[in-house]
Amino acid sequence: MRVLLGGLSELAEGRVKVVFFPQGTPPKRSILFLKAPVGPKAYWNVCRHLPVPLDGGLMRLEEGLVCLTHGAKYQPNSGRCFEGPCLGEYLEAIPIEVEGDQVYAIV
Ligand code: FES
Repeated sequence: MRVLLGGLSELAEGRVKVVFFPQGTPPKRSILFLKAPVGPKAYWNVCRHLPVPLDGGLMRLEEGLVCLTHGAKYQPNSGRCFEGPCLGEYLEAIPIEVEGDQVYAIV
């Protein structure tokens, strides 16, 4: 299934868009869509410490993707946790397809 994440031109550098996916199997109910230094990336919005969303739409990338529950920090390019209680674990990446300006997650 393809899920439209949004347009690349609408996604500012250093910002994270949370795309809700209510038909997903819990805890996979939303997707983090971001412009990482290596390009567009999508991850399930599920921390590797506990199965809760990192949240929310105001996240910035200066210090990585930060879980607001206990402060785990993940690298935008790889999803690897580089600080916090799940050090060394990875956010689950979602394959994407880019068509023109539109980016889709393949779930
Ligand atoms: S739930 Fe994310 S760091 Fe604990």
